[in-house]
Amino acid sequence: MYKRVAGTKDILPQEIALWQRIEDTARRIFSLYNYKECRPPLIEELSLFNRSLGEGTEIVQKQMFVIHNKDESYALRPEGTASIVRCYIENNLDKISGFQKLFYIGPMFRLERPQKGRLRQFHHIGCEVIGSREASLDVEILALADKLLKDFGIEGYEIKLNSLGCLEDKFKLSDFLRKELKSKISGLCADCQRRFDGNILRILDCKVDACREAVKNISLHDQHLCADCKTHFSRVRVGLDTLKIKYALTPLLVRGLDYYTGTVFEITHPDLGSQDSIGAGGRYNNLVKELGGPDVGAIGFAFGVERLLLTIKPKEETTTKNLTFIITLGEKAKSYGIKLLNELRSQGITADTDYEGKSLKGAMRTANDLNAKFALIIGEDELNNGSVTIKNMVTSEQKEVKSDDLKRELIC
Ligand code: HAM
Repeated sequence: MYKRVAGTKDILPQEIALWQRIEDTARRIFSLYNYKECRPPLIEELSLFNRSLGEGTEIVQKQMFVIHNKDESYALRPEGTASIVRCYIENNLDKISGFQKLFYIGPMFRLERPQKGRLRQFHHIGCEVIGSREASLDVEILALADKLLKDFGIEGYEIKLNSLGCLEDKFKLSDFLRKELKSKISGLCADCQRRFDGNILRILDCKVDACREAVKNISLHDQHLCADCKTHFSRVRVGLDTLKIKYALTPLLVRGLDYYTGTVFEITHPDLGSQDSIGAGGRYNNLVKELGGPDVGAIGFAFGVERLLLTIKPKEETTTKNLTFIITLGEKAKSYGIKLLNELRSQGITADTDYEGKSLKGAMRTANDLNAKFALIIGEDELNNGSVTIKNMVTSEQKEVKSDDLKRELIC
């Protein structure tokens, strides 16, 4: 028997209602905020991600699903931001309207060691806004993330907020950290010893105890921010306070991807254990230009859908479906039943029938299992009378109605 690949999941019919509720809610809220859906392909040139996320990042170094074909190398997308920016530039969306608010829903792929909340194929609900450096946009993005979580029915999350500042500020922050950590380098894990010269900011979000200990007492606040970045960040905070959106200032928050500049955030949930981030995002003001587009600011975020679902308490779906289930007795009734099924469906009534040759009792049990609202029983008598026996599965009331009156009965 074949088994699914480790770190992937089958989303089964009994789980799909929850997925659809989350996706429908996301589409409704994005539309309310005037975002348009964009669907880039799942594979891109490998170098797009190497360049956007950074050669030294965990994802590029260890987690890409790479496909080599002759002289070309592709990757299954590990995230959506780079693809959306590529799509924005390639399709000249800046020429249509410089400013674009885009959202996406779909699978992402990372070759990670699978564990709870950490998959090799997972799903993002995310958005990217390209074309503005305004602080008020950062506020909208955070308000949108907060609104989505509330409408998904998720409670108890925390928004962690920080500003990395512009590129120069990030260099300043790196220099500061190098000075602070120089004497502790031998106590850091092997990865962080390598990061010390390469991407030292990543040491701040290393999960290894020794590294956490080493950074714990570093006094970080906004000393690395230039005047413009300080002003921007304080406007973001004032905006969030005005909208009463709670956040925790988290100076150690740096995020694991190189493209971030300025505002960064991560949303965590206490129910998730070590993989506690349900969503994350931030500004990436240099990426569009870096990939060959105009010099415009951008910001976005993505939620991990599987992690969102881990925070939602499962509810028993007991609601009766608006389903009409046709039960026929005998060959003549069966051919009439097929015609009736077709008629009901073309009138917009959700309907189904038994295809397993069940007895009346068995077919009634199926109607019950399917939470059907009505069962229609058609036998010899009904055929002769031009009628149908209709059973209301909720009240158990049963009556014979003329075929011409059936629709009225079913939609009442
Ligand atoms: P990220 O933090 O790498 O950011 O991923 C966003 C979210 O995806 C995480 O908070 C987590 O919920 C989920 N996630 C990540 N990896 C896995 C995994 N292996 N299994 C299950 N869930 C996972 C980004 O991808 C950025 N592109 C977000 C962004 C958009 N920044 C700006 N715009």
